[in-house]
Amino acid sequence: MSIFQPGLLKGQTAFITGGSSGINFGIARRYAEHGANVVILARNPEKLAKARQELEKTGARILDISADVRDFAALQAAFAQTRETFGEIDIVIAGAAGNFLAPSAQMSANAFAAVIGIDLLGTFNTFRASHEHLRKPGARLLVISAPQAVNPAPMQTHACAAKAGIESLVKSMAIEWGPAGVRINGISPGGVEGTEGLQRLSAGGLDDEFKKTLPIPRYASVDEMADMALALVSPLSAYMTGHIVALDGGTSLLGGSYSLAYLNGRNRQS
Ligand code: COA
Repeated sequence: MSIFQPGLLKGQTAFITGGSSGINFGIARRYAEHGANVVILARNPEKLAKARQELEKTGARILDISADVRDFAALQAAFAQTRETFGEIDIVIAGAAGNFLAPSAQMSANAFAAVIGIDLLGTFNTFRASHEHLRKPGARLLVISAPQAVNPAPMQTHACAAKAGIESLVKSMAIEWGPAGVRINGISPGGVEGTEGLQRLSAGGLDDEFKKTLPIPRYASVDEMADMALALVSPLSAYMTGHIVALDGGTSLLGGSYSLAYLNGRNRQS
């Protein structure tokens, strides 16, 4: 149950990359439930169509667009289509991400570039392409970061570098775009149950043991992420910009090398 009024986002338009699954899909559903028109953009058309049908059950107007966030021209076209369909854009979420566990001494340059391309360049591309279509003043932009932005993690040099870059980008862009009335913030989730990210980075049989070591000894739910994403576009956060909320049960307090990958004996290199 949400603590916010059902119609909080009525008449507003939200554009969400990576919106066909995981945390981003949960945010899309929460925004749709609160009356927003929602655009979800992702690569796989079949997954997108299924997600759109699910979101339409809320009664909201939903558009799905198949594109790769590494393709700036495709994003420009997607924002133009969104503007034409729904008018000025109120909310943009740069949520698309890629990750896998790989040791840096063996990872190909292309593998590193793939994650930097989707996460960091994809975030820049999304916000840059949205700029001319944003409602100004009033637009709110969000990124989905991770504790790896501040905690070094073995097997994730690509994701650590990408998320650190994203958090830096948020701060610089918030300074530049604030005067026009555009706020930019983010969420840094730890482990979130039922997501591909958790599945990819999971500690496998060690998950239960790992959870017990966290300050809040469990993983989060997608709904908890969606509620925070709603708070960050609500009047509650009207005076907040350039900030990343650590919604991670305290994971980031534990410092470097304390990661799921570190505990994952299956993936540890000898
Ligand atoms: N270990 C090592 N290298 C890997 C890898 C792995 N598990 N998975 C992919 N790569 C490498 C590929 O081999 C390729 O490099 P190469 O050309 O030198 O062989 C490079 O990464 C790009 O791979 P490609 O299959 O073209 O992927 P992509 O460009 O479509 O990128 C990924 C997508 C690889 C990032 C993929 O993990 C993905 O799409 N993830 C999305 C979902 C996700 O991760 N969600 C959770 C986010 S926390």
